Amino acid sequence: MSSDEPVEQPSYRPATVAVKAGRPGREPDQPLNTPLTMASTYVAGGDLEYGRYGNPTWAAFEEALGALEGGRCLAFSTGLAAVSTLLDLVGNGATVVAPRHAYLGSIGQIADLEARGRLRAVLVDVTDTDAVVKACEEAALVWLESPTNPALEVADIPAVVAAAHEAGAYVVVDNTFATPLLQQPLTLGADLVVHSATKFIAGHSDVVLGAVVTRDPQLYDVLKNRRDMIGATPGTLETWLALRGLRTLHVRLERAQANAQELVRRLSEHPAIAEVRYPGFGAVVAVVLAEGALAADLLTHKTRLWVHATSLGGVESTFERRRRWKTEPATIPDGLVRLSVGIEDVDDLWSDLAAALDDVC
Ligand SMILES: Cc1ncc(COP(=O)(O)O)c(C=O)c1O
Repeated sequence: MSSDEPVEQPSYRPATVAVKAGRPGREPDQPLNTPLTMASTYVAGGDLEYGRYGNPTWAAFEEALGALEGGRCLAFSTGLAAVSTLLDLVGNGATVVAPRHAYLGSIGQIADLEARGRLRAVLVDVTDTDAVVKACEEAALVWLESPTNPALEVADIPAVVAAAHEAGAYVVVDNTFATPLLQQPLTLGADLVVHSATKFIAGHSDVVLGAVVTRDPQLYDVLKNRRDMIGATPGTLETWLALRGLRTLHVRLERAQANAQELVRRLSEHPAIAEVRYPGFGAVVAVVLAEGALAADLLTHKTRLWVHATSLGGVESTFERRRRWKTEPATIPDGLVRLSVGIEDVDDLWSDLAAALDDVC
C-alpha cells in the first residue's frame, strides 16, 4: 500500500482512546509521549505564529479529551475561564436556565452577570425535569451540571436537550464529576461540554485547567477566537500534566468508584450520618452529619488519612464541609460534607473515617 493511501482507523473503546489519542506519529525516533513545547512565538508562515494562538502540547491534550468526549476540544487556563467564555456566548438580556445547586463559581458568575444586567437567570432544580423543560421555553442557554456539585443531583439530559433545542437554546453540560468515561453529553445531544480538568482528568491535585468540547464547528471557531482574544489560554506544563493524568483516568476512576460504592454502603449504616447522597456512579459522595455543622467541622479535623481540602478528583481522598464557603447556597445542608474518594485501600479509608465519625457521634 502506498503511504498516501488513507489508512482506516479502528474505533477504539474509551480506555484505549485515553491511552492512545494525542500521541506523536509512529515514525522512527519520534518520542512516544508528546513533548513539552515551551514557546511564546514560532517561525512565521505556519498555522501557529504566536504562543497565544496555539501550542503542540495543548493540541495533544485537546485531541485526547476531544476523542473521549466525541467532539473538538479547546483547553482553557482554568475551568472558570471556560465557564465565563461560554456564558459570554449569550446576547445581552438573554435568559440562562441554570441549576440552583451547581459549582458555586459557575452560579456565582451567572448571578454576577445578572446583577450587572447582562443576562436574566432562571434557577431550577435539575431533578425536576418538568420544571426544567418549562423553563427552557424562554432560554437562550441552558446550563446543566450533572451530577451537581455538591448536591449530587442528576439531570435528565436528553429530555432537557429536546426542550432546549425546541426553543432554539444551546445546552452546556458541566461534565466534571462524571468525566467522559461515565457520561458523554455530546452523544446525548448537548451542544457543549465544559470541564474543570483540574479534577478527575488531571487527577493528581497539581494542575488548574479547563476545557470545552463541541461538535459544532461554528461554536468551536467563536470560542477559539474568544479564548485567544481574551488570553484565557492554558499553561503548557498544565496541559502536559493533564494529558499524563488522562492516560490513567480509566484505571483511577474504576478504583475510586469502587471505593466510593463500598464507603457509601458502610457510611449508610453509621449512626453519625443522617443522609448519604450518591448518584450511583463516580467517586464523589456527600454525607449529612446528624449532629450538624459543628460535628461536620470536627470530623474534617480528626482524620489522619483523609485530607481536609477543597477540590476533588485527585488520587488522594479529600473532604470538606461545603457550607464553610459563604457563597454556597443555604439550601445545601449546613452539615453536608463532600467526600472526594481516592484510590487508596478502602479498608484504610474506612478505618480512618469510621474512627473520626465515632468520635463526633
Ligand atoms: C463542577 C465544577 N465546574 C467548574 C469548576 C471550576 O473549575 P476550576 O477550579 O478549574 O476553575 C469546578 C471547581 O471546583 C467544579 O467543581
